[in-house]
Amino acid sequence: MALLEMRQVRKIYRVAGEEVRALDGVDLDIEEGEFISIIGPSGSGKSTLMHLMGCLDTPTEGCVKLDGVDVSRASANRLADMRNRKIGFVFQTFNLLPRLNVLQNVELPLIYSGMRARRRRAQAMEALTQVDLVNRAKHRPSQLSGGQSQRVAIARALVNHPKIIFADEPTGNLDSQTGAAILELFRDLSRQGRTIMIVTHDPKIAAQTSRQIEIRDGKIGHGSTAPTHRSPSEEESGPPRWGAGGQDSRFNG
Ligand SMILES: Nc1ncnc2c1ncn2[C@@H]1O[C@H](COP(=O)(O)OP(=O)(O)OP(=O)(O)O)[C@@H](O)[C@H]1O
Ligand SMILES: [Mg+2]
Repeated sequence: MALLEMRQVRKIYRVAGEEVRALDGVDLDIEEGEFISIIGPSGSGKSTLMHLMGCLDTPTEGCVKLDGVDVSRASANRLADMRNRKIGFVFQTFNLLPRLNVLQNVELPLIYSGMRARRRRAQAMEALTQVDLVNRAKHRPSQLSGGQSQRVAIARALVNHPKIIFADEPTGNLDSQTGAAILELFRDLSRQGRTIMIVTHDPKIAAQTSRQIEIRDGKIGHGSTAPTHRSPSEEESGPPRWGAGGQDSRFNG
């Protein structure tokens, strides 16, 4: 059983009598441990796809299953529960709360899940260790660089040990060098066995993930590469796996 399954998924928005087919018959399986990018031009349906996979929204038609649970028709409460227990999110704009310090920001998902303060703190410090920011635990978000802010957001996404992490244009607000470092961090986390999906319009970023899913006009495109099944031992000893080269100049116009 795949960690995430989508069958004939459609998302249709109706605005002022007009229909927008944001997703139009998507079939997709994602296995545990995969490092995937969703790539496609602006308006192609990338964020919509991520929102459905991430239990932020439900499809108009079709089936979405996460970890064996059909969430296609789930209530808002049920979706929130799935997000709390199984999903971590990273966004382009970091979305840190300015009045909380770094540690408190990272702890936030655990407060929602009702964990006691001591355990919460320990788990948040563990996540900050993974992104190498323990020394900024007491800083406010305004006192951090862009790259540090995104690492805090990644720690927050990791803190409840999610089944899958979704990142929507995580390097979009960063200079190229800082963006490369953030991507390297995702790659490290992937090597540790985490399931990660990055949404991007940048072929150079997509090429660094093990599998690319191309989306065009709400449909999975031909530039998508095959699923990757890697053994953990292979990952540890071998060099980083670059993309199969399935995406090329298609996105450069
Ligand atoms: N809430 C909404 N209501 C109506 N239409 C929407 C809504 N969200 C998205 N759309 C439309 O659905 C299509 C897909 O949007 P989506 O945000 O998924 O694109 P995207 O690939 O993430 O684009 P970008 O790279 O610009 O972020 C677009 O045509 C968009 O206008
Ligand atoms: Mg988007």
